[in-house]
Formats: sequence, structure tokens, C-alpha cells
Amino acid sequence: MSIGSKDRHGPDQARIAATEGLGMRTTELPLVVVLGEQEPPLLDRIKDRARLRRVGEPHLADALRAADALLVWDFLTDALPAAWPEEGGPRWVHTASAGVDKLLFPALLRSDAVITNSRGVFEEPIAEYVAGLVLAMAKDLPGTLDRQRSRTWQHRATERVAGTRAVVVGGGPIGRAVARVLGALGLRVTLVSRRARPHDAEFGRVHGFGELPGLLPEADWLVSAAPLTDETADLFDATLFARMKRGARFVNVGRGPLVVEDDLVAALHEGRLAGAALDVLRQEPLPADSPLWSVPGLLISPHMSADTHGWLEDLAELFLANFACWAAGRPLRNVVDKTLGYVPVGEAPGGTPHTEEGSS
Ligand code: GLV
Repeated sequence: MSIGSKDRHGPDQARIAATEGLGMRTTELPLVVVLGEQEPPLLDRIKDRARLRRVGEPHLADALRAADALLVWDFLTDALPAAWPEEGGPRWVHTASAGVDKLLFPALLRSDAVITNSRGVFEEPIAEYVAGLVLAMAKDLPGTLDRQRSRTWQHRATERVAGTRAVVVGGGPIGRAVARVLGALGLRVTLVSRRARPHDAEFGRVHGFGELPGLLPEADWLVSAAPLTDETADLFDATLFARMKRGARFVNVGRGPLVVEDDLVAALHEGRLAGAALDVLRQEPLPADSPLWSVPGLLISPHMSADTHGWLEDLAELFLANFACWAAGRPLRNVVDKTLGYVPVGEAPGGTPHTEEGSS
């Protein structure tokens, strides 16, 4: 899935302007458009190898017409479909995210632009965050904070997580990192992926999406770490929550639209679920007047599970490493399969082949 052809994807072609009459050739540097309100760190390292133009959404369409490459720094933008040019446009699009759902619109899918993502930056931080949520719920940390605020000394017994069962949906590197960390806490983890894998080197058997309903009655924890695609949109709905054990809990660190939020709230209200945590929501930022903020048993965080100190530098370093490949006509890292909507099997960060099932 990597790019081997400098001619098709490299920056040099058509960027060499010959000034014939003067007997002089000038080489124009490739134009890299950076979409985002914030300035990414470290990019001045390539200022003598690229013309960098940072734009916000209002100037995106103009900028894209001339761009050779696009860095989607503001990866939650909805502006790209309307701004994508009818003809031409960037030949390489890199996103500072694992999820590429905002890039899966028809014009970009049809174009021969290559999409790469930031796989490799987020896996372990997200896994730690999920472990934090699981422990917070099992140990009732929210209840302890409430009591501290009201200066109430009320002893309670809490739950052990070791020996409980978790189903993790998402068989890519994020889901796998989550499964690994939960496993280290003693949970018995079952991994569910787009395609079943009967002999996974690390997890033994990986189940397919179709097996998910059958796994839920045994699960104490259901963790969503899947990419958002046509296949996964609205996956976690009333039908699945109804299959869950009474008192189980749910965590979503994938994308908001994986979950039918009204169905989740109903499952919490009726006690089918004892708790849930959403780090991603259908509407982001969640408006202050959303009823979700005050649903009992629901922990909400603002799409931050992956973001640990230094993450922006890590994202920039990954982009710069890929830029070096692109500029040299070498294979890019983390090439997204446009038909699947994620970096597929065999693409490891850095391009080292391995045997992992794909996901975001
Ligand atoms: C964050 O949500 C990402 O996709 O990287």
C-alpha cells in the first residue's frame, strides 16, 4: 500500500519552471498547505524544502487548488468536502489523527491523492486512558470525589477488575494496545475486529464483528476502539446494549457516531448498564446545555484520550518523517486504504511489515 512512484506522487514534477528565454531554470518548492487554526510545532525544519501555507477553513478551497500536499492539523474539520477542488488538488494528504473519517468523502476517495495517518502516536496513551476509566468506574472514583466535595466520610467496598471480562471492539493497533493493558490488569480480554482471525499471534483468536452480539452476555466491559466507517456507524445501539449483562459498563474512545447516544442513555437509566464513559461524542464540542452532561453514571471527557504532553511534537515529527519520504520519492508510512477507511494489515508505523489486523 505504500507509494513507490516518485513520478505520480513526489513533489518535483510540474514544479520545475523553466525560464527558457533567460537560459535559467528555477525550481519552485512544493506547496504544503496546513489546515488548522493553530500553528503546528517544528515545521520550520522544512522551510527550505517546502512552501508552507497555513490556512483556516475560510481560505481552504483556494489553497487546495494550488497545493501539492495537505497536512490536516485540525483533524476534526468538516470543511474538506466542500473545499476539495474539482480538478487537481494535493497529491498527498496527511492527517494528524488516527481516524480518517473526515477524509472519506467521494471526491477525495476518487482522486489519486494518497492519504496517510498518524498511526503510532496514539495507541499507548489511549490504552492507558481506557485503563484509567475502567479503574475509575470499578473503584467509584467519581463517587469518592462527590463525597469529598460534600465532606462526607462514607466507606464503601469497591470492585476488583482482575478476572472480569472485557470485549474490545477494534482490532487495529489502538484496540490491541487497549487489550494488552487491560490484560495486564488481569482482565480476560476478547478482541473483536472487522475480520475474524482464528490464529492471532498475540491474542489467540480475534472475533469478527458478526460475533459481537454473541459475546456480550458474558462481558463486564465493552470498549469501543474502532474506526468510524460505513460498517461501524451506529454500531453500539439498543440491540447491542440489550445483549449486555446487567450491570456491565461501556467505554467509547473511537468516534462519537459509533454510538447511538439515546440508546446508551436509555440503557443507563434502566440499569442495564451500571456506567459508561464517552471520550468522543456525536457533537463535539458537546454544548453546555446537552442533557448528556448530567446523565447519572456517564463520564464525559472532551476527546482527549490520546493527548499526552508532547503529543503535538510527536505528531509533527511523524509528519516530518513522512515529508522526508515524500520529498525523496520513497514509500510513505501509514498509507490508508481508501476502500477500508484505515491503515490495513501489513502496514506498521515506519512501514515494517507485520501481521496485524487493520484498524484506525
Ligand atoms: C483522534 O481522535 C484521532 O483519530 O487521532
